[in-house]
Parts: sequence; structure tokens; C-alpha cells
Amino acid sequence: MNVLITGANRGIGLAFVNEYLAQGAEVWACYRDDHLSLTALNTDKLHLLQWDVTEPLPQRGSLPKSLDILINNAGIYGPKKQAGQSLENITPQAMMDLFQVNCIGALQVTRTLQPALMAAKGTVANVSSKMGSSGDNSSGSCYAYRASKAALVITSKSLAIDLFDKGIRVITLHPGWVKTDMTHHNGEITVQVSVEGMARVIQRVDQYPMGAFVAYDGKEVPY
Ligand SMILES: NC(=O)c1ccc[n+]([C@@H]2O[C@H](COP(=O)([O-])OP(=O)(O)OC[C@H]3O[C@@H](n4cnc5c(N)ncnc54)[C@H](OP(=O)(O)O)[C@@H]3O)[C@@H](O)[C@H]2O)c1
Repeated sequence: MNVLITGANRGIGLAFVNEYLAQGAEVWACYRDDHLSLTALNTDKLHLLQWDVTEPLPQRGSLPKSLDILINNAGIYGPKKQAGQSLENITPQAMMDLFQVNCIGALQVTRTLQPALMAAKGTVANVSSKMGSSGDNSSGSCYAYRASKAALVITSKSLAIDLFDKGIRVITLHPGWVKTDMTHHNGEITVQVSVEGMARVIQRVDQYPMGAFVAYDGKEVPY
């Protein structure tokens, strides 16, 4: 099994790397700058790839020819919720920056890897957030993060429809509230719990409606 993960050098992405290495997969782990946590894993099943998802892939030759699972995990939160993402303080630039990474990044990476995904009849998992669910939004604010993750949900649904006949399955994931740098380690669950749950959902992709939005515990998220 070949798996490629973006934003793989820390947090949920790094836990995905460990999960799939433990399952015996060949893993392509993408990072922007710092890859010390990945080199420390020291296994020939791991292939490192420098890929900022806002840029085209720099070294196409290093990609797998067939790809069973693509996890579009790379993401940013942007300015702090109250200070930077309130109605008073949100800026067009912050909205654009988050859209670029959290939505367009996943779309571009998927398009680049489409031939390899077709070769394996693979699965694409887009890591969004309940913060991008309109149905779940009861507290408002957080404009840039919410909008960029909602945009990823609908982009993911279109990908699910467009790629279905090519044998590629697409699912959108909510990791839960997870203890990582993004949450200042204030989450409810560990990266291991989150990723074990999401890996189970990915494995059962065919049991969900096309382009479903599913949390780490297997429950569908309304959007
Ligand atoms: N933690 C949660 O509770 C939670 C909840 C819902 C959704 N999520 C989503 O889960 C995903 C992982 O989050 P996390 O909690 O693990 O966050 P994190 O610890 O902040 O890690 C984010 C990862 O994304 C990478 N990244 C950021 N911008 C990138 C870019 N332009 N190109 C490539 N990689 C980039 C970071 O790389 P650098 O090290 O280079 O910055 C890092 O590896 C994100 O999409 C996040 O929105 C998290």
C-alpha cells in the first residue's frame, strides 16, 4: 500500500505517518521546511518530499506511480480566534491566506496526484474540520478558518463526484478536537486516537455516501 500525506512533519500528519508505517505501508511524507521528526523515524519505507501545498510539486520524479491513499492534511488556523478572526478584526488577506492553504492546496495536490490515484483506484481523504460545518456553527466568528474549511468540504464533494467514475473515492474528515500545536495542546483527544479513528473511516470509505463528511469516531458531520 502506498500512502502520501501532506503536512506530515508534526501533529496529526506525523501521527498518520506512524499509523501507516505500522500498517506496513510505503509512506511519502510531505513537509515544508523542518523534517527532523521524519528523518528520526529512520526506515526505508519512508520517502520524504518537500512540498509546500501552495506551490507546484518541485520534484515530480520522486512520486509513487500508484497511490492507494492521499491524505490532504496540511492546514493553518491563521490569526487567533478573538484577536484576529473576529468580525471587527478579520482582514481580506487573512481570508485569502487560509483559503490558499486549506482549500486550494488540497485541490492542487489532488489534481497533481490524479494519475497515481487512478492507477491504484485510490482514496483521497481531505482533512477539514467541524468548524467548516454550517450545521455545527453555534458560536460564530472565526471567519477565515471556518470559511476555508467549509470551502474544502464542498471542494471535496465535487472531487468525489468528478473522480468516482475514475475509480477514486473521496472523503472529508473531521479529526476531533486534538492536542496539537494548532490547539496549543488543549484538545480532548490525542493524535493517536484521532488518527486511528480516521484511518478506520478511510478503510471503510465505500460504506459512506459519496463525498461524506465524517468525524474520527465514524459519525457523519452535518454540513
Ligand atoms: N488539532 C485539531 O483539533 C484539529 C481539528 C480540526 C481540524 N484540524 C485539521 O487537521 C490538520 C492538521 O492539524 P494539526 O492539528 O496537526 O496542526 P499543526 O500541528 O499546526 O500541523 C499543521 C501541519 O500543516 C503543515 N502546513 C501548514 N501550511 C502548509 C503548507 N502551505 N504546505 C504544506 N504544509 C503546510 C505544517 O507544516 P509546518 O511545520 O511547516 O508549519 C504542519 O505539518 C489541519 O488541516 C487542521 O486544520 C485539526
